[in-house]
Amino acid sequence: TTPLRIGIAGLGTVGAGVVKIVQSRANLIAQRGGRPVTVTAVSARTRDKDRGVDLSAYAWEDDPVALARRDDVDLFVELMGGSDGPAKAATEAAIAAGKDVVTANKAMLAVHGQALAEAAEAAGRVIRFEAAVAGGIPVVKALTEGLAGNQITRVMGVMNGTCNYILTRMESEGLPYAKVFEEAHALGYLEADPTLDVGGIDAGHKLSLLAAIAFGTQVDFAAMELEGIERISIDDIRHAADMGFRIKLLGVAQMTGRGLEQRMSPCLVPAASPLGQLEGPTNMVVLEGDAVGQIVLRGAGAGQGPTASAVMADVIDIARGFRISTFGQPAAGLEEARAARASAA
Ligand code: NAP
Ligand code: HSE
Repeated sequence: TTPLRIGIAGLGTVGAGVVKIVQSRANLIAQRGGRPVTVTAVSARTRDKDRGVDLSAYAWEDDPVALARRDDVDLFVELMGGSDGPAKAATEAAIAAGKDVVTANKAMLAVHGQALAEAAEAAGRVIRFEAAVAGGIPVVKALTEGLAGNQITRVMGVMNGTCNYILTRMESEGLPYAKVFEEAHALGYLEADPTLDVGGIDAGHKLSLLAAIAFGTQVDFAAMELEGIERISIDDIRHAADMGFRIKLLGVAQMTGRGLEQRMSPCLVPAASPLGQLEGPTNMVVLEGDAVGQIVLRGAGAGQGPTASAVMADVIDIARGFRISTFGQPAAGLEEARAARASAA
């Protein structure tokens, strides 16, 4: 059988995790994907770095764009991060070179996902991103496959584990925000730019992707109402607790008479509810469909194993020949977007 040959750009937490799974579960992956999955080439900033995995069998590319264009790469796996720069350039190059793409990069997709989906569709390629939303929780698949027969009425959840850690720790230890922020930093929880976490931006990126899938709209991160947790005080948390509530950085997306409403902000949730009981650096996504009712998904939204697990779900789907793009086929709103751009040009 013809193997699926993948090229991985980015060998940090997630990239090294993907290599570990490919190397340790070759038979299982071949069985589930219907053919072997092999890594042919990899790329990162620094070549001589111990990443805890053996990369000696793979070709090395300093330039991720060159990796994306290689003839021996069928599927480009983008795990570098960043909304623009090399991640976007290499993803565009991969699509232009006729490759499918798997990415965990919510920052890139929230800003450029629509254009990338259009480019992929025009090239007959797919771009998939299970790992970009809620790490190891298979929420994209739940929406696109498991709940395909439903009209989705609401999507909500806690989608940034770092903020949930900070808020629950402030509450349990009675510590001020600044102190717990420093703690989260020392534990390595915060993104390189912590504003992405505590400003609600990272969670907002994720919600914008889920909303587009759930409601068949274009990704519209710019339209999201966004507020972070920086101004939450220990008094706010205590007053909420006195009334039987907890404060969570909660995302809500729903279709209203005025169109799609997307909000990511600190909210009071009943302490006894599933969302109210979510502790530590964990994620929870609540999906509501007209036929199924409410579904609650909870799990690790970050970390090497959970995020690589989600990347591999997409890789195995592509090995199987699953050609449906996550944004839908034809992706909802793509035709309208194309027409609007054509008339504006
Ligand atoms: P990371 O540990 O910082 O790794 C990033 C990797 O990209 C590194 O190997 C780095 O090379 C490489 N890289 C950066 N710039 C590059 C460039 N210009 N050319 C080539 N390689 C470059 O990041 P991560 O945590 O694995 O995250 C990767 C992606 O997954 C991001 O989009 C992130 O948002 C997403 N994600 C991460 C998690 C998580 O738990 N970590 C969860 C969900 C989604 P060097 O190693 O040589 O520096
Ligand atoms: N900074 C993110 C979080 C990582 O804390 O949830 C996973 O996207």
